[in-house]
Amino acid sequence: MHSDIKKNKIFPDKSIPKHLAIIMDGNGRWALKKSLSRHSGHLEGVHTVHKIIKDCLHYKVKYLTLFAFSSENWRRPIEEITNLITIFINVLKAEMDRITDSGICFNVIGNLSVLDINLRKLILEATNKTLNNKKLYLTLAINYGGRWDILQAIKSMLSNNKDIHKNMDIIDEKFFSNYLSMSWAPDPDLIIRTGGEQRISNFLIWNLAYTEIYFTNKFWPEFNSIDLELALNWYSTRERRFGGLNVNKNKILKVQ
Ligand code: IPE
Ligand code: IPE
Ligand code: MG
Repeated sequence: MHSDIKKNKIFPDKSIPKHLAIIMDGNGRWALKKSLSRHSGHLEGVHTVHKIIKDCLHYKVKYLTLFAFSSENWRRPIEEITNLITIFINVLKAEMDRITDSGICFNVIGNLSVLDINLRKLILEATNKTLNNKKLYLTLAINYGGRWDILQAIKSMLSNNKDIHKNMDIIDEKFFSNYLSMSWAPDPDLIIRTGGEQRISNFLIWNLAYTEIYFTNKFWPEFNSIDLELALNWYSTRERRFGGLNVNKNKILKVQ
């Protein structure tokens, strides 16, 4: 690991994002560049996941949410989809104990109902085993789409509040967002997208309303601790106003 990161000198704790979301893109293009199969690119991407989780534990990032498979990724060739599902199963099997022992609370968001039964069993086992862990809330988005999330939230809100049409004033942002997949977590402070594309690709569209967005050309398999450090450094320079004004700057202006 980079020596500066070890010393934890670069960022004062307050500038570390509480919730980091990542669109892990570029596995296929990384593989193509190396004349390897797309499958090799996805396998290499798993190594990056390990490294970044380790770094997030080090930085004390509280929530790490990783986009692993979108609701639109079913448009890919069946062979690639099968390979990806197999990777998820193998990684969960191999890492179950390490995840549990390292204090990680494991979650999955997305439409799991259509996923392979073995994968669903493993997800359930991992979420149950790590339920009481609190060091890092690690969420994998599998068969996840932001539009799906909003639709499932509407359905769930309506079925839980049968007479809601008689009192629609109670539906405000807070009330509604309780039904979204990530209702239990704060909105992401920072989202990183690797692979050079500058789009959200239907990730957490509701939750990203005020998230700082960092794009890098690095492909996911080659994204490393230094790249994360660069992203966190960039984040620490952002002035987050949420539509308001910077309170401290205004104070200075008034004094002058
Ligand atoms: C991201 O890498 C992984 C998934 C979407 C599952 P890609 O597979 O999209 O890689 P590129 O974008 O084709 O290089
Ligand atoms: C976004 O990557 C989804 C994941 C990283 C899981 P894609 O490769 O699917 O996105 P597009 O198609 O380039 O927008
Ligand atoms: Mg891609």
